[in-house]
Amino acid sequence: TDKYAVIGNPIGHTKSPLIQGMFAQATGRDIDYTAILGPLGEFAKTVDAFRASGGRGMNVTAPFKLDAFAYATDLSERARLAGAVNAMKFEGERVFAENFDGVGLLRDVTHNLGCPLAGKRVLLLGAGGAARGALLPFLEQKPAQLVIANRTVDKAQALASELAGHGPVSGGGYAELAGQQFDVVFNATSASLRAELPPVPATVFAEGCLAYELAYGKGLTPFLRLAQNAGVRRLADGVGMLAEQAAEAFAWWRGVRPDTRAVISHLTVPLV
Ligand code: ATR
Repeated sequence: TDKYAVIGNPIGHTKSPLIQGMFAQATGRDIDYTAILGPLGEFAKTVDAFRASGGRGMNVTAPFKLDAFAYATDLSERARLAGAVNAMKFEGERVFAENFDGVGLLRDVTHNLGCPLAGKRVLLLGAGGAARGALLPFLEQKPAQLVIANRTVDKAQALASELAGHGPVSGGGYAELAGQQFDVVFNATSASLRAELPPVPATVFAEGCLAYELAYGKGLTPFLRLAQNAGVRRLADGVGMLAEQAAEAFAWWRGVRPDTRAVISHLTVPLV
């Protein structure tokens, strides 16, 4: 049985063993997938020990995504652009590293929610790790425009100039959103984790807009409530993103892409 694990701190809340176990069962692949509480400051030591015990691959969650970036010997282009790693594959001395958060989010939006981004006006709130990973996959869809809004304005501007060669992207503060409308609005800030609302004007949601909260399992967050009160009927949280990034990792490790529908319906928490 091949060994895999997710490493984080804290790790008690992780759904990854459940998800990967469901994928393994559905595809007839026998894997052993555990959760590892990584001591802070001992990422490399902990991963070294897991590899020495026969580990084949790992998912990486907070706060180790940058440690994994440094630990990798072979970074994929999207991991490099995201500046963070969420999945690793071990082959001898080599550590292949990927970031599937952005492609997982994109697949959820386009495939599961039926909302292609081509030609759309897209607004991304936040400029931290979660936002970074989404930018390149989004721009590859050729949206009409991609606007990054962040509390710390220079971070949004810096990200936008880094990605400028890839499409129509701009960055600024929340105040600049007054008078603008978008077809899809993503909340990639960590505000929802503290039940806070990023200062986004309620007027940003265009008719028929999709409002997407990247956080998972928080119910109707202040952001989703704002969207709902503004008349938005299509609301989503990050359950599909969670399932899709896990499916990407499973496919990368095992060579077969599992269907995510059973996982998504098992983990869906009502948005109330
Ligand atoms: P993550 O990896 O979850 O993206 P992060 O890298 O710490 O975490 O980034 C958090 C993001 O949420 C940042 O964009 C942050 O804005 P700043 O760059 O200005 O700090 C944003 N954020 C967190 N709390 C927020 C709040 N209450 N209102 C607006 N933005 C918030």
